[in-house]
Amino acid sequence: MRAIAIHRGESQPRLCEVPRPDPDTGAVLVRTLRVGIDGTDHEVLAGSHGGFPEDDSYQILGHEAIGVVADANGTELTEGQLVVPTVRRPPGAGSNEYFDRGEPDMAPAGEYVERGIAGAHGYMSEFFTSATEFLVPVSTAFAKTGFLIEPISNSEKALELAYTSRSSFEWSPETAFVLGNGPLGLLSLALVQQHEFERTYCLGRRSRPDPTIDIIERLGATYVDSRETPVSEVGAVHEQMDFVCEATGYARHAFETVDALAPGGVGVLLGIPSDWTFEVDGGQLHRALVLENKALLGSVNSHVPHFERARDTLADCPDWLTDAIITDVFDPTELDAAFETGPDRIKTVVEFGTR
Ligand code: NAP
Ligand code: BGC
Ligand code: ZN
Repeated sequence: MRAIAIHRGESQPRLCEVPRPDPDTGAVLVRTLRVGIDGTDHEVLAGSHGGFPEDDSYQILGHEAIGVVADANGTELTEGQLVVPTVRRPPGAGSNEYFDRGEPDMAPAGEYVERGIAGAHGYMSEFFTSATEFLVPVSTAFAKTGFLIEPISNSEKALELAYTSRSSFEWSPETAFVLGNGPLGLLSLALVQQHEFERTYCLGRRSRPDPTIDIIERLGATYVDSRETPVSEVGAVHEQMDFVCEATGYARHAFETVDALAPGGVGVLLGIPSDWTFEVDGGQLHRALVLENKALLGSVNSHVPHFERARDTLADCPDWLTDAIITDVFDPTELDAAFETGPDRIKTVVEFGTR
């Protein structure tokens, strides 16, 4: 079957022929419909994140997918059912305590592999297999958009952590600030728009006309240009934020988030930056966190309950939004174009098939 993979020692993906996998007991064969590309895929290609499956010379890319069950292999799923796969799997043959208690997203390094990212083949191939416990069934309405459930699920977990961390006192957030206008930032903004926040803001570093600014404003949020208003000054220029969701991967934002927060506010960091050494006033940062009861959290990955919530969130997104976010759809043969980036690109998709 055809697969898009990165080979050891190379930095560009290739379309290659690989054996079609056979599902083990408890697993099904899925025919791939669409696979999305995000910032993490580019980090994998650059070699700054993730890694190859131990015994293979290549890794099939892709972790945001929607597919259709092609061989139910005696499981509870039925052929024709649309499914969205989660990303983490146990390393090796067995399981471990994180997977056993349904919290693979909380597993430390060494206790998981990530399909398409770290140590396991992804979903950018005509078929893939997966144990059914890692597949979230979705209706046929999601055939074109369902791959967005994975990135939204990462934002769902971030929001869950934010609320949980503020659950010991009366927290009635009014303001939310999403840092980043890439796909994760825009999907996070779409998520917070569906929650109780009265005023929302989204950070970028682009000038109008720009498709991401159009989306931000059509969602009813205020666009903040970091070249004019650094994150640390947003409180003075606009207002202090009850919730900040960082999705830029720009390491200074981790610290500037503390300045942007209102007393009792919470910032969740999602970005995965490369190493970068810079100066921070640690005393001021420490004091602000303590004296104003602020919280700063990191969040990675997500699991089935987050995917299920993301499915509901996506169902409530208007068509204009998914149409505007999914800017480019490519055939697997057009993979060079698929991995290009540009200001008019938001979410790029490789389409292996249709329902
Ligand atoms: P992306 O496409 O690289 O988007 C990042 C966006 O942030 C870009 O639009 C970029 O603007 C903007 N940005 C960067 N620095 C900025 C600055 N100083 N001021 C204003 N805007 C700035 O990546 P993505 O797919 O949306 O993902 C975002 C980050 O989250 C990545 O680091 C990714 O690895 C990470 N991630 C983490 C998780 C998790 O589970 N924690 C899940 C998914 C992704 P321009 O486009 O104008 O350059
Ligand atoms: C994926 C997550 C993954 C994270 C770290 C993100 O792009 O969506 O599932 O855990 O990267 O590798
Ligand atoms: Zn991702």
